[in-house]
Amino acid sequence: MKVIITGGAGYIGSHVCLAVHRSGHTPVIIDNFSNSSPACVRRLGELIDDVVECHNVDVCDAGMLNDVFAAVLPGAVIHCAGLKAVGESFADPLHYYEKNILGAVNVLRAMDVVGTSRVIFSSSATVYGDPEYLPYDEQHRLAPENPYGRTKLFIEHLIHDWDKAGKNRSAVLLRYFNPIGAHPSGLIGEDPNDFPNNLMPYILDVAAGKRPDLKVFGDDYQTPDGTGVRDYIHVEDLADGHVAALGYAVRHTGVGTFNLGTGRGYSVLEVIAAFERASNRQIPYEVVARRAGDIAEFFADASKASETFGWSPNRDLDRMCADAWNWRVKNPNGYSE
Ligand code: UFG
Repeated sequence: MKVIITGGAGYIGSHVCLAVHRSGHTPVIIDNFSNSSPACVRRLGELIDDVVECHNVDVCDAGMLNDVFAAVLPGAVIHCAGLKAVGESFADPLHYYEKNILGAVNVLRAMDVVGTSRVIFSSSATVYGDPEYLPYDEQHRLAPENPYGRTKLFIEHLIHDWDKAGKNRSAVLLRYFNPIGAHPSGLIGEDPNDFPNNLMPYILDVAAGKRPDLKVFGDDYQTPDGTGVRDYIHVEDLADGHVAALGYAVRHTGVGTFNLGTGRGYSVLEVIAAFERASNRQIPYEVVARRAGDIAEFFADASKASETFGWSPNRDLDRMCADAWNWRVKNPNGYSE
């Protein structure tokens, strides 16, 4: 089956492409390269020893999107394309609503035109907002606290409505926790366009000597060591979760919603220690004020995905750090060759 992966040249999408290929399906990428690189598509080709079909198209361009769908006739779509920086979404919410929601509408419409009935959507744990209890299960109240998260939740609603309006449609909403790590080959990984907003890309910059020290955002949270706790998941495990979800979508109709996390939280200081072990580098850090909008702690109840479609993550934090560092050592400038 041909599977269109929107945002397939991005950090998560590229790992999903490989997993889709490993599962015996044919990935077809749609990407506008706004936060990704054509070099990634070439590297994917090296990894699968074949050319990966890729269309340089923005999902907001309905006309071009429809043309690609008509040519590919996908059996399923994995919709990863979208804007994802929380801070930027506060600064320019209209841009986030426009790009993320219009993109999703266009993808669903393009599917309808060619009769594709299965979609897997990249949602986020940010849809839960401030935890009422932990771990978050899929029944937890949905109250995202930033515009980015609200676009993810709107799209979840949109997909529910789309599903109800037609027959034999299937959709899987995957709520990601904190993906880090890289493919063990070191050929693909995370290559942020600008200043690193997230913990692991920043640690990699410090380890590589590009920045003097890590700023730890607060050590006075109600957590065991006072620093923020997150559920980090290896991007390869996350990608495997998409393939398991795809199998589920083939066997079921309706909408299923699943957390993709490990169920285990680690503090910032624990991540630093694991990274130091994996890389043999020191990560100097300075504790600074809390980052506005951060939550003290969250992690997943990931049992539903395991019970429903047999997916469970198996790469630990040391492995996540080792693979992230391997990617960085082999590609000091990311995809810029
Ligand atoms: N942190 C630091 N210093 C940094 C960067 C992060 O101390 O330079 C801390 C944060 O305060 C937090 C933890 O590291 O405690 C993780 O922060 P990230 O920015 O890596 O990740 P977040 O949990 O804040 O956000 C991520 C994604 C969002 C998504 C959210 C919920 O980036 O897109 O998880 O799923 F919405």
